[in-house]
Amino acid sequence: MFQIAVLGAGRIGQVHARNVASHPELRLRYVFDPQSEAAQALAGRTGAIVARDLDQVLGDPEIAGLVIASSTHAHLDQCVRAVAAGKAVLCEKPLDMDLERARAERERLGPRHVRLLLGFNRRFDPSFATLKRRLDAGDIGKLETLHIISHDPAPPPLAYIRVSGGLFKDMAIHDFDTARWLLGEEFVEVFASTSCLVDPAIGSAGDVDTAKTVLRTASGRLCVISNSRRSGYGYDQRIEAFGARGQLRADNLLESSVSAWGETGMASGPLQNFFLERYAEAYRRELDHFVQVLGGAAAPLVGYHDGVAALALAEAAHLSARSGKVVPL
Ligand SMILES: NC(=O)c1ccc[n+]([C@@H]2O[C@H](COP(=O)([O-])OP(=O)(O)OC[C@H]3O[C@@H](n4cnc5c(N)ncnc54)[C@H](O)[C@@H]3O)[C@@H](O)[C@H]2O)c1
Repeated sequence: MFQIAVLGAGRIGQVHARNVASHPELRLRYVFDPQSEAAQALAGRTGAIVARDLDQVLGDPEIAGLVIASSTHAHLDQCVRAVAAGKAVLCEKPLDMDLERARAERERLGPRHVRLLLGFNRRFDPSFATLKRRLDAGDIGKLETLHIISHDPAPPPLAYIRVSGGLFKDMAIHDFDTARWLLGEEFVEVFASTSCLVDPAIGSAGDVDTAKTVLRTASGRLCVISNSRRSGYGYDQRIEAFGARGQLRADNLLESSVSAWGETGMASGPLQNFFLERYAEAYRRELDHFVQVLGGAAAPLVGYHDGVAALALAEAAHLSARSGKVVPL
């Protein structure tokens, strides 16, 4: 049994804490959140202790790993301290909001960063993982272009938007990682255009809610990513991969497979509502992989380097949207 601490008792911290608490090879020992009521409530539900602070967690020799699910601004510092204390880390995306700082800390960490798994959970989604396996098996020949559609059902609260790092670092960052993973080649150019079409309050908070991004690899392969903070029909998460001999696509998952057929047409059930439902299995598989990392049976499938690379794409997209120009990497 590996003893684990979860930092952050918000939306995703609650998912990870429940998964840790119910995992046969893990024991949830601590929950830490500066909002003590949130920490108390989560600890109460999962049988954990509320930690006083991070020092208490890091000073406990029984703790093998940390799940960092705190607000984005806290990730990098907590990662660095945990890894330096010899703990394995599963850290939520994004690694940080500042690319240069993330690069500099990587240097300081040296080889110790190898026990850090970054929470790009889409890599653990069964449908996307199957698509990747079939791409690698050559089912559609060489992959040439990629479409990723990633639209949320509705925007998060403004309080979240304000501390999120902005649409590219908070939301599109998943898609930048998915694109790098599927293409297996780094991008050399980014062009992005953004708008505020969903809620003017998001614009007033200094962010955007809609974006289209085009990315090009050195060999000329292209990717288009569509992001929106609203869909009007649920959580839209699709991939279309076009190869020399065909197409592989991963479509949306529905709440159920029941559909109604009548004289006016056919109606299927709604899409799975949001990330908590759509990626529930991915979060469980991600944690299974973290157990392998904890036991030394595997190196993280997605690590510090991937966090920095996705952050570089997010910064380039932001710069491109502001300048109206293609940004080289
Ligand atoms: N991989 C995914 O699918 C996914 C989904 C949602 C959120 N996230 C990421 O997870 C992080 C948290 O998102 P959320 O939606 O749960 O936000 P949230 O606002 O619901 O919860 C964040 C929690 O972190 C706490 N916190 C703030 N500073 C802290 C610190 N120093 N130490 C410990 N806790 C601290 C806050 O008090 C809050 O309770 C964000 O970085 C977000 O980008 C990832």
